[in-house]
Amino acid sequence: MIILSILLNVALISICWGRLNEEVTIPAISETNRSQCFYQPPSACPPPSNPCHCRRVSNTAAVCCNVDKSLITKGLACADIKNGKVIELHIRNATLDVLNVTHSAWRQLLSLAITDGSINRIVGEFGKHTTISCLNFSSNSINKFEDRSLVNLYNLSVLDLSHNNLMDVPRFKKEGIVTLDMSANKQLLCSHLVDALKRTELHFNSENETFCLSSNTFHWFNSTELVPLKQVVSVHELRKDCIINCTCEPSRLDIVPGKPPTFALFVNCSGLQLTSLPPVLPPNTIALNISNNNISSLELIYNEASYQNLRELDADNNEITSILPLEGSRFISNFNALSLRNNRLKTLPPYILSNIFDRNYKVRYVHLGLNRLQCDCTTARVLKEWLALRQKDIPDSDEIYCDNMEGRVIDLDPTKLCKGPHDWTDYIYFIITAEVLLLVFLIAKVSYDYWVFKTAGYLPWPASRMPKLPCDWLCE
Ligand SMILES: *[C@@H]1O[C@H](CO)[C@@H](O)[C@H](O)[C@H]1NC(C)=O
Ligand SMILES: *[C@@H]1O[C@H](CO)[C@@H](O)[C@H](O)[C@H]1NC(C)=O
Ligand SMILES: *[C@@H]1O[C@H](CO)[C@@H](O)[C@H](O)[C@H]1NC(C)=O
Ligand SMILES: *[C@@H]1O[C@H](CO)[C@@H](O)[C@H](O)[C@H]1NC(C)=O
Ligand SMILES: *[C@@H]1O[C@H](CO)[C@@H](O)[C@H](O)[C@H]1NC(C)=O
Ligand SMILES: *[C@@H]1O[C@H](CO)[C@@H](O)[C@H](O)[C@H]1NC(C)=O
Ligand SMILES: *[C@@H]1O[C@H](CO)[C@@H](O)[C@H](O)[C@H]1NC(C)=O
Ligand SMILES: *[C@@H]1O[C@H](CO)[C@@H](O)[C@H](O)[C@H]1NC(C)=O
Ligand SMILES: *[C@@H]1O[C@H](CO)[C@@H](O)[C@H](O)[C@H]1NC(C)=O
Ligand SMILES: *[C@@H]1O[C@H](CO)[C@@H](O)[C@H](O)[C@H]1NC(C)=O
Ligand SMILES: *[C@@H]1O[C@H](CO)[C@@H](O)[C@H](O)[C@H]1NC(C)=O
Repeated sequence: MIILSILLNVALISICWGRLNEEVTIPAISETNRSQCFYQPPSACPPPSNPCHCRRVSNTAAVCCNVDKSLITKGLACADIKNGKVIELHIRNATLDVLNVTHSAWRQLLSLAITDGSINRIVGEFGKHTTISCLNFSSNSINKFEDRSLVNLYNLSVLDLSHNNLMDVPRFKKEGIVTLDMSANKQLLCSHLVDALKRTELHFNSENETFCLSSNTFHWFNSTELVPLKQVVSVHELRKDCIINCTCEPSRLDIVPGKPPTFALFVNCSGLQLTSLPPVLPPNTIALNISNNNISSLELIYNEASYQNLRELDADNNEITSILPLEGSRFISNFNALSLRNNRLKTLPPYILSNIFDRNYKVRYVHLGLNRLQCDCTTARVLKEWLALRQKDIPDSDEIYCDNMEGRVIDLDPTKLCKGPHDWTDYIYFIITAEVLLLVFLIAKVSYDYWVFKTAGYLPWPASRMPKLPCDWLCE
């Protein structure tokens, strides 16, 4: 983002509208809405026998064909195109290394199409008060526009740059809507497209055929993938209108084979005095920062569908009282990072916590420090030991305190906390011990009876007094 805003600032600063060329009279022809620039098929070209490569097709329109640097100058002259009456011009198959658009011939035009040729670069700049509203540079293999080439076209409304080799969207006027066609530019970078979207309000032609290249030099486009224009536009829209007062940033490109790549979002709602979780998250939110709010419940994470993609949750410095709502949620099965530092957690049920790590093989980070628990014998026995085992996964486990007594959970002494007769776990141990002793006694008695029976031939009491059971034949 820093890169983007620097780029944007540089762009803003370098747009200086002040430079003025000589005064020119604007033809008094009213602007009409157009979606297509003036266009002539090859059949309209002057015949090859004609030494002039340009031809007037009407009083106000002309076409030039198969020109190079010198033929274009000659053609404009021999067809008398600079007379001020021609407002629509189509130049087909121009073969030029550079096209210098600083040229008085374009000034009175409303529509200029220079298509189906071979041009490497566009240099110079259209003069101030150039009235062109429709500009078509399609199919020329253009790979670069000089920075200010188009900025003086205040009346521009349609710009077709399709089928070229552009990496970047050239800059043009900032006010008003421009309909842009950037389709079939195989080198176009998504980051540059985003910059263009930030500069100007754009409509797109051939939206479905426009793709941009994700670049690995740009942090949120990590892989080199062709991203559909729609994706870039939708992320741009989300950034403009994120939920409530939060900010939305694309955090990575998700590539699922067979599906168009999508952007995963990082939503930052930190420090907004929220008292509950945002009711709905934008689609594909994988990370949410709700730290420094007054949120008390995590209930929504279990129920709300838009929370189902969440992998990272930072909920530090809130008033969350329980992690129970997370139990069985998709978040708990899939998350990478969970931070609940400095909340109001009273218990950390060990069975929920152990589920977090035990069934998972990937690395997870959990922060639970600066919570004050209700400590008892179970805390001292079970939670303390578990925290000791999980020190690596819960790096701040030594910052979990007790609320009802002094000290940290990891310092609890079970022998002090578990003494009282109120602790049922003590009885359990007695009962288990008694049961084990009884079992040992029974086995010994049966073995003794068997030995007596074998050696002396009678059964000791009480086996001798027992009535015969139907299953006794098994032993005989
Ligand atoms: C170009 O735009 C200006 C205002 O920006 C307007 O006054 C002028 O009439 C327009 N020219 C044409 C030819 O439409
Ligand atoms: C011209 O375009 C503008 C905006 O794009 C639109 O509001 C207006 O209706 C259009 N006029 C005609 C005649 O199509
Ligand atoms: C630009 O020219 C191409 C032909 O190269 C044509 O297909 C396209 O429709 C034109 N675009 C506009 C906006 O006139
Ligand atoms: C384009 O113009 C060149 C001459 O500048 C010519 O040799 C070539 O045949 C033309 N191509 C087409 C498709 O007309
Ligand atoms: C373009 O042409 C103008 C005038 O014809 C000239 O001043 C300018 O230096 C040229 N620009 C380039 C980059 O050649
Ligand atoms: C672009 O594709 C979408 C669906 O993928 C379709 O609904 C829409 O009509 C297409 N737009 C154009 C201009 O073809
Ligand atoms: C992006 O790629 C670099 C190196 O290829 C890797 O180190 C980094 O973790 C990746 N970032 C994301 C968000 O996938
Ligand atoms: C968003 O922020 C503005 C200004 O800080 C505030 O007036 C508005 O109430 C906030 N909206 C919500 C839903 O918190
Ligand atoms: C989240 O937003 C807060 C407040 O707007 C800001 O201070 C913080 O730097 C943001 N965090 C990230 C990671 O963007
Ligand atoms: C969340 O935002 C706070 C500042 O508002 C920041 O300190 C913290 O690092 C952010 N958390 C994450 C995971 O980016
Ligand atoms: C949020 O908590 C802070 C500090 O705990 C408190 O000052 C503030 O009044 C609370 N805000 C709301 C809306 O509850």
